Amino acid sequence: PTALAGRHFLKELDFTAQEFLGLLELAAELKAAKRAGTEQRYLRGRNVALIFEKTSTRTRCAFEVAAADQGASTTYLDPSGSQMGHKESVRDTARVLGRMYDGIEYRGDSQDKVEELAAYAGVPVYNGLTDDWHPTQMLADVLTMTEHCAKPLTGIAFAYLGDARFNMGNSYLVTAALLGMDVRVVAPKAYWPAQEIVDRAHELAASSGARITLTEEIGEGVAGADFVVTDVWVSMGEPKEVWDERIAALAPYAVTMDVLRATGNPDVKFLHCLPAFHDLGTKVGREIHETHGLTSLEVTDEVFESAHSVVFDEAENRMHTIKAVLVATLA
Ligand code: CP
Ligand code: NVA
Repeated sequence: PTALAGRHFLKELDFTAQEFLGLLELAAELKAAKRAGTEQRYLRGRNVALIFEKTSTRTRCAFEVAAADQGASTTYLDPSGSQMGHKESVRDTARVLGRMYDGIEYRGDSQDKVEELAAYAGVPVYNGLTDDWHPTQMLADVLTMTEHCAKPLTGIAFAYLGDARFNMGNSYLVTAALLGMDVRVVAPKAYWPAQEIVDRAHELAASSGARITLTEEIGEGVAGADFVVTDVWVSMGEPKEVWDERIAALAPYAVTMDVLRATGNPDVKFLHCLPAFHDLGTKVGREIHETHGLTSLEVTDEVFESAHSVVFDEAENRMHTIKAVLVATLA
């Protein structure tokens, strides 16, 4: 068994830097083994339930492929695919699934639900995204950063532009604080993470040596950054009515070539957890184009398609890192 055997994976704040780095190391090993064709199957005979109350491409596929590579099987449950939330409570669902499965992934709105599943399941529970945190995404993003920057982690600086009050903003801030990185949240003040999360980040930074900047100034925020990062301006579960407000407030914070140039770093890389709105290739994109006349929001197509962009390496790393979580907790 590994040091994390039997543990839940609910939010970054539950882990020490050493534990988080251990998962990254394991992910890198598993990635190399898969590429070399030498992957060992540590999860033969294990079963993992995947509860998705919100849609997903990367997270769902990452769990399914990771489990299959390791010899485990999965059951995918979409909102209409189980009794949970309609006829059965989270608590009862947890106790039932915990009798059949070795691990349970949950994606949905409230962090309380994933915490409740964990409290009652009796098996490891994994947060596949809630409104508050996206911890498996952080493993993939930090792995991608280490692959694309020669500096040690504690020397890496990144700037997150956009709505920082939701899962991605929160997770970036505390992950950087935990690991001793240089993180800049660049957004209008009203879009900064909640004060209690900023306070937790400062507490972590006191021991990790992380540098934390919250600023409305793009120039100050991105100067010297190794990575520029953003996320959608309207997250899953939010109503269409917020588009106007978000576009008005966040338009200056869109990641453009000018923003990348403002880093002063010709090798700066761009990350986005995806899905992204950068062209008219989606229904939502076309709708925004019709209503607001815009062809992109949080990132321009030019940046997205440029050599700076490492978003598909990042997406691939979702699988290797989620595999590491499964192996570390279930092998
Ligand atoms: N980044 C991410 O979580 O993607 P999905 O919503 O496709 O899972
Ligand atoms: N903030 C986004 C992240 C998607 C992976 C959302 O919650 O929709």
